Amino acid sequence: MCGIIGYTGPLDAKKVVIQGLEQLEYRGYDSAGMALQTEDHHLLLMKEAGPVAVLKETSREAKVRSHCGIGHTRWATHGGVTDTNAHPHTAGKVTLIHNGIIENYHEIVERFHFREELVSETDTEVAAWLINHFYTHSEKGPAGNPYRALCEAVRTIKGSYAFCVLFEDIPGKVFAIRNVSPLVAAASSVGTFIASDLTALISYTREYFVVPENHVVVLEEERARLLDLEGHEVEPQMLEVNWDTEAAQKGGYPHFMIKEINEQPEALERTIKPRLNGGLPDFSEENIPDTLFTDCEKIDIVACGTAMYAGMVGKSLLEPMLKIPVSVNIASEFRYEQPLLDERTLTIIISQSGETIDTLAALRLAKEHGSRILSIVNVKGSTIARESDYVLYTHAGPEIAVASTKAYSVQLAVLYLLVCRMALVRNCMTEEEAQSFIEELLKTIPAIRQVLGDLTPCKHVSERMVSARNAFFIGRGLDYAFSLEGALKLKEISYIHAEAYAAGELKHGTIALIEKNTPVVAIATQEHIFAKTISNIREVKARDAYVILITKPGADVSSEVYDIHIELPELSDRFTVFPVAVILQLIAYYTSDGKGLNVDKPRNLAKSVTVE
Ligand code: G6P
Repeated sequence: MCGIIGYTGPLDAKKVVIQGLEQLEYRGYDSAGMALQTEDHHLLLMKEAGPVAVLKETSREAKVRSHCGIGHTRWATHGGVTDTNAHPHTAGKVTLIHNGIIENYHEIVERFHFREELVSETDTEVAAWLINHFYTHSEKGPAGNPYRALCEAVRTIKGSYAFCVLFEDIPGKVFAIRNVSPLVAAASSVGTFIASDLTALISYTREYFVVPENHVVVLEEERARLLDLEGHEVEPQMLEVNWDTEAAQKGGYPHFMIKEINEQPEALERTIKPRLNGGLPDFSEENIPDTLFTDCEKIDIVACGTAMYAGMVGKSLLEPMLKIPVSVNIASEFRYEQPLLDERTLTIIISQSGETIDTLAALRLAKEHGSRILSIVNVKGSTIARESDYVLYTHAGPEIAVASTKAYSVQLAVLYLLVCRMALVRNCMTEEEAQSFIEELLKTIPAIRQVLGDLTPCKHVSERMVSARNAFFIGRGLDYAFSLEGALKLKEISYIHAEAYAAGELKHGTIALIEKNTPVVAIATQEHIFAKTISNIREVKARDAYVILITKPGADVSSEVYDIHIELPELSDRFTVFPVAVILQLIAYYTSDGKGLNVDKPRNLAKSVTVE
């Protein structure tokens, strides 16, 4: 959730830290802070509630010469959004930033008598005092050993954490350790870096390593050392960034979200085309054996948020085609539902970041029960990718806007490829049928380009939406699965209460909320239930709803049932989700922008949720 950056090297540390925080701000933007070691070995601490821009402005005055520092952008969990609760936290000789949650902080406070010391309401400050305790009174050897202090502290701490620590009397070095919460590190000709994700590092280097859990990293000016908890030096496994700085910047667009919406055709090409062989999906490059698909008797899809809604579309396709049970599960619920899992269950994990803690916990549970894990992940080398038996990477490139757009489309694309491969190897589709399925999938790319080529209908809808308090998204079957994501998009960035409903269910309660001019986005792209959906639309129209109808081209529909009609490019029913998703993303985007809201950083949300 929170963003972390640490640096030591020849550059101006203040600049590096601020620039890193700007790149990481999408992870949390309640407050920001930094600690810089000055050339004359003092520690300068600056922290402010509010976005990074506030910290940047106040730090402009500080004429500091520093080559080593840490910075943090916060998404509040323990304690309100105040200057005092902002990170870094200083305790004795230790100054620390943290991402994660310390579950036993209360017990630590009591056991080590820290109550009198605490000035903030955060669990992070407790960790700072604990590390300081072991630094100044080590039970295992002479005091003043930062490595040992970190190891002893993490043996006491329960929870998830990524810590970056400066020790007052150790100039020029940044220490770090993590459990669950992500950290990546890199050494380059302009110094060494550590960060909660790559976006903060790519302007300096392309080579990096993922910090393994419970390993201490020591950033020195020319190298990043890695030590395990037994004190052995470990060789980091280097990886290469596969996208560039430009991909992580706005490239002339006013917001990341609209840039990412526009990147969808290329992202889909990158995700689909390299996996085709003779017009059929082929996962041999990824070492995914067909037995994974033929041996399973049941599929559990597990994810959160948008990724989970992509899973809903996957289920609607997989189950009727494979004729085996497929469930879609909210990751945070899954582990407490005592799911029926065994070695004949294929668990499909979907995650853009590969770091969502609930999704990761669900993965671990499924693995414990012997289920095989196939994950669909965007971020290379992320924890979920590393812990899965098999990974299908989506190639969206970095997704910065909190509201997920291109990651959703490429998750869908991978699910469609999976559906096709599974149906083929399970003899639920002939080779010819599979080839024409893939041809249709490829047609979605120009279809999206067509939608992006004429923004007028979506802008028109958003002009109505901006004044709405409530909005409804309705559809049946696959259209219902699409509408869930449409409603999520609108509510998360425009703060309009938006609900998705199965069109036939609306009259069992929710229709009571329809008033004159309540916007209802009705999706009716599925031929076999088209007439039924239109009847449901008539029900809301009869209550004076303002209906935005989305259909395939040339749909036989009377103008009495809608106020705005958006026709999709020609595609067969199973593939309409791709242009529909883009239309719904654009409606949400222009509504949020029309309301003057912070499109890329909606209130209370974070891009990557690493707390349970
Ligand atoms: C957060 C983000 C959502 C995202 C969800 C799952 O809530 O704001 O956009 O869909 O996490 O994230 P993941 O990285 O696992 O796909």
